[in-house]
Order: sequence, then C-alpha cells, then structure tokens
Amino acid sequence: MSVDLERDGPVALITVNRPEALNAFDTAHLEALLARLREAGAGEGVRAIVITGAGERAFIAGADIKEMQGKTPLAAKGFAELGQAVCAAIEGAPQPAIAAINGFALGGGCEVALACDIRLASDRAQLGQPEVGLGILPGWGGTQRLPRLVGAGRAKEIIFTGRRVGAEEALRIGLVNAVHPAGDLLPRARELAAGIAAQGPLAVRHAKLAIGQAFGETGGGFAQEAQLFALLFGTADQREGMGAFVERRQPRFTGA
Ligand code: CAA
Repeated sequence: MSVDLERDGPVALITVNRPEALNAFDTAHLEALLARLREAGAGEGVRAIVITGAGERAFIAGADIKEMQGKTPLAAKGFAELGQAVCAAIEGAPQPAIAAINGFALGGGCEVALACDIRLASDRAQLGQPEVGLGILPGWGGTQRLPRLVGAGRAKEIIFTGRRVGAEEALRIGLVNAVHPAGDLLPRARELAAGIAAQGPLAVRHAKLAIGQAFGETGGGFAQEAQLFALLFGTADQREGMGAFVERRQPRFTGA
C-alpha cells in the first residue's frame, strides 16, 4: 500500500500501489501521490512522467468509497479540494504526464487520467464517471475536463448515466490517444515518454504551458464543482448510494 516513484533516465514512473482495493484513493494515497508528483516534477533531468496502477485490473478505481461514506459536507469539500490539487499538480507539472490506463479508471481515477496530457489505454481498460450512482458527482475536475476532451454532449451522457466506456470507444471519442494490448501498455508508455524526453526540454515545457492556456481553468467551475460535491454529502441519496456499494446491493434513491 503505497505510491511508488521510480526513475528510468529522464522518465519518472509513478505507480499507485493498492491493488487489493483496485488502487482506490483514500486520503493517505492522495497525499502520497501529491508528494510523488512534486518530487518527480522537481527531479533533476525528469523530462516526462508516466502514471499507472499496480496489478492487472485497475489504473485507479476512484476515490475510496468506504472512507468517503461517512464524511460531512465540510470534510467532503476538503477531500474534493485535495483531489483537485492532485489533478492540478499533474496539469501544472513542468513535464508532460502520460496516463498508462491498465484497467478500471473510474471516478477519481478517470479524473486523474483526464488531468494527464496524454492517455494510453490497455485493451482491457474501462473508463467512466460512476459517481451519480453513488448519489454524488465527479469532484476532482471531471465535470470540467471531460467536456473539454470529448465535448459537452458526450460528457453529459457519460456522467449522467455513470456507464463504463471500453477502450475502443474511448479511442473513438478521443478520451484516450491510443489502445495497446495489456502486456504492451507500459513499454509503449515508456517509449512515448522517452520520445518526448529526447526533444528540447524547455520547448516541450513551454508548449505544455501554451496549450494549458487554451484549455486551462476558466471561471470558478472547479470551486463550484467542489461545493456541489460537498452539498451532496448532506443528502439521503449519498448515504444510500455509498451504503449500497459497501453492502453490494442496488441503491434505492428517493431524491432527498
Ligand atoms: N473505494 C473503495 N473500495 C473499492 C473501490 C472504491 N472506489 N473500488 C473497489 N474497491 C474494493 C472493493 O470494495 C473490494 O474490496 P473487498 O475485497 O475488501 O470487498 C475490492 O476493491 C475489489 O473490488 P470488487 O470486489 O468490487 O471487484 P469487482 O470486479 O466485482 O468490481 C469495480 C470492480 C466495477 C471497479 C467495482 O469495484 C466498483 O464499482 N468500484 C467502485 C468504482 C467507483 O464507483 N468509483 C468512483 C468512486 S467516487 C469518486 O471517485 C468521486 C470523485 O469524483 C472523487
């Protein structure tokens, strides 16, 4: 149970290592990822960052529902802000970040991938924002970044239904850049990172900054997302949705 950082020449590989919970993020893992990102970003000679999940099944299965379940609205706001800070650290890192999506990238896991500059998926990957099925909404920037990537209509359909998007569909709608057989994913991500690392590092850094200006934060969308996320933690639907996940049953929402 950790978030690991490993150097391979100019490439930093960050692995979320909690496979027993499909790499779901509790607060400790979020804080550890933030620390590793800062370490990688400031690392001498780091030219590209690859983020992946440990094990065969998951990139990151989202925020830890069991930890989130009992949060007050105020605590939930802090949790959303921490997740948003992690995603902002990825987006704001001086080096390009590549998500190597080796399985489930759901909820906060999809949001971490969305904050990366490039997304590569294994043919087994499944992405999605299933939060509404838990009585909440995506709180780590998904309402802002998903529509930018796939367009508002597709993003709304994905978020409102909470359905999972397979690798091939993700490729077709521009949610990922490429799909590789599972065994090839990490080597291909490293290869892509090495190709970026061989370019002029200051030029790549400035290109990332310039593109960020075109698609970066506008208005108070992220702050509002965190507030709306927090408000839902005062509802019966949130308690029912998360309770149903923990008890492995279908939720019965009442709209209260
Ligand atoms: N939080 C906590 N634990 C999780 C988890 C999560 N997000 N996802 C998986 N786990 C745990 C399971 O509880 C289980 O633990 P136990 O063995 O101790 O019971 C273990 O990981 C394996 O999971 P499953 O037995 O459920 O595996 P499965 O193959 O039957 O299903 C799955 C896989 C479809 C990914 C299912 O685990 C699932 O739906 N997970 C939740 C996905 C989700 O809703 N993510 C969004 C969270 S909310 C969020 O992220 C909000 C935000 O915007 C920040």
